[in-house]
Amino acid sequence: MYKFFIRPVFFLFDAESIHNFVLFLISKFNFLLPIFSAIYNPKIKNNVSIAGLKFNHKLGLAAGFDKNGVAIRFWDAIGFSHIEVGTVTPLPQPGNPKPRIFRLQGDYALINRLGFNNKGAIEVRSNILKAKPLLKNGLIIGVNIGKNKDTPIDKASDDYVKCFSMLNDVADYFTVNISSPNTKSLRDLQNKSYLSQLLSEIQNKNRELNKILKPVFLKIAPDLETEELSAIYEIVNLYKLSGVIATNTTVSRENLKIDPIQEGGLSGKPLKHHSDKILNELNDLNLKYQNKELNLIGVGGVFSKNDFNDKCKLGAGLVQIYTGFIYEGPSIIKKILIY
Ligand SMILES: Cc1cc2nc3c(=O)[nH]c(=O)nc-3n(C[C@H](O)[C@H](O)[C@H](O)COP(=O)(O)O)c2cc1C
Repeated sequence: MYKFFIRPVFFLFDAESIHNFVLFLISKFNFLLPIFSAIYNPKIKNNVSIAGLKFNHKLGLAAGFDKNGVAIRFWDAIGFSHIEVGTVTPLPQPGNPKPRIFRLQGDYALINRLGFNNKGAIEVRSNILKAKPLLKNGLIIGVNIGKNKDTPIDKASDDYVKCFSMLNDVADYFTVNISSPNTKSLRDLQNKSYLSQLLSEIQNKNRELNKILKPVFLKIAPDLETEELSAIYEIVNLYKLSGVIATNTTVSRENLKIDPIQEGGLSGKPLKHHSDKILNELNDLNLKYQNKELNLIGVGGVFSKNDFNDKCKLGAGLVQIYTGFIYEGPSIIKKILIY
């Protein structure tokens, strides 16, 4: 239904406009939630335990799809085990000039250079607060945090700590996003000294606000060299993070049928190989150090049950999707988890 009737209509419109329009509709038509639930929810309660949180199963919606948390009840109704709201910055910001999302249909991919457009921490907190008591299926809500565009890189940790404090009471877990290619210098935060400072300040705030530490994950880029990845691995363990999310979009343009001229982060099928490689290297490090504490979350290019299983075999305790959902529609949840 989606692939043959709905997607062709959606794809007639600009990618971002139709995305926002559909999000708006599903956020307003809450009376339809039981119908969506009956059609799409796989009704699985496997209770996967990660970082002290109980997930119904491993599949979640990746960050950036519902940046402001306007459709949280819908994600719960159709049966994701978790979603990541955000990336949220302390202050609202418009992001980069439009157009800034591009479909590469022949490659089952997207390129985006949104640049952390979002309504800011106050409004996002209020959206989560309103939705939470109305959830029926135990959706876990992660909040993915970042820095405002105008905050210089050496002050970046102030923004992350601000977001952490402002959203601490509504987030089930946090993801520290240092891997978007669309905010100038953000990926520099993956360097050893910046990262140590950033994670140390976030965990200090975490200890100050919470008796039991809130799970914190780090979301990394797929374009890291092995040495860079090893350094990151050492630091996330040093600061006792709950896990690593591998990966964000890539700046690479390998394996594309059509050479796109657009700048930005590439997601979807061509990303899978890159993100699986990073996941594999992280899994090897966990095995080498017999480290059972660091959870791995796999994301990048999941379109099918096989893609999902690949990530699980590479050690992913949870798996997230974004571009696959755009191309396959909500029935992808059952396709991955049941059929
Ligand atoms: C349009 C778009 C916006 C995104 N925005 C964010 C974001 O705000 N924060 C983030 O951490 N990742 C963001 N991502 C990256 C996704 O969460 C995911 O890591 C990436 O797309 C790879 O998964 P996929 O191949 O299933 O799409 C975005 C991706 C897309 C396509």
